[in-house]
Amino acid sequence: MNRKEILSKTEEHVRNKLEGEGSGHDWWHIHRVRNTALKLGEEEQADLFVVELAALLHDIADHKFHDGDEEIGPATARKWLKGLGVNTTVTDQVCDIIRDVSYKGAEVETPMKTIEGNVVQDADRLDAIGAIGIARTFAYGGYKGRELYNPNTPPESHDSFESYKKSTGPTINHFYEKLFLLKDRMNTSSGRKFAEERHKFMEKFVEQFLKEWDGNHEL
Ligand code: NI
Repeated sequence: MNRKEILSKTEEHVRNKLEGEGSGHDWWHIHRVRNTALKLGEEEQADLFVVELAALLHDIADHKFHDGDEEIGPATARKWLKGLGVNTTVTDQVCDIIRDVSYKGAEVETPMKTIEGNVVQDADRLDAIGAIGIARTFAYGGYKGRELYNPNTPPESHDSFESYKKSTGPTINHFYEKLFLLKDRMNTSSGRKFAEERHKFMEKFVEQFLKEWDGNHEL
């Protein structure tokens, strides 16, 4: 199977699996991450075949939906790529990216091994911030049954992936525990540049949200 066929088969497979998903990890998230990753990958002169495959498969079996199992994503991707006859070098690169890509808490470093990994991680993180990021964060909070906000529950700074995964705080806390931190964790210079505008928009959103929270109106 040639590269074009591998990509189109993978796209079809992921689309069928994630289309209509309601927690913000749907096909359109994959579609955006793929496009952003290809753009960043071009700038960084990354191997675009690896970038595109990893972007397409990065949420194929997310730990968030499998009791925190961090191996299920790479294992599922490996099985799929093996079935398509993709060589081991590419498969290993893609699976490493899928394993390492996730955010794991404010005080946990998440280094990527390759340029391709840097690019896919930046693309995934860009989709977690800005207007899309806000929408996805509240969709996920709703899916998990979380409060929008609770002034009595302060944000936490997680120092392990375990404690981060267990956190049940209100959705607004997620901005302080992850989203506001992403801008300074971009790997690539174009990723950093794209993050600026999205970051400012989120700051404005949270400021306005908190202003409206108490229902007090100043005329
Ligand atoms: Ni993702």
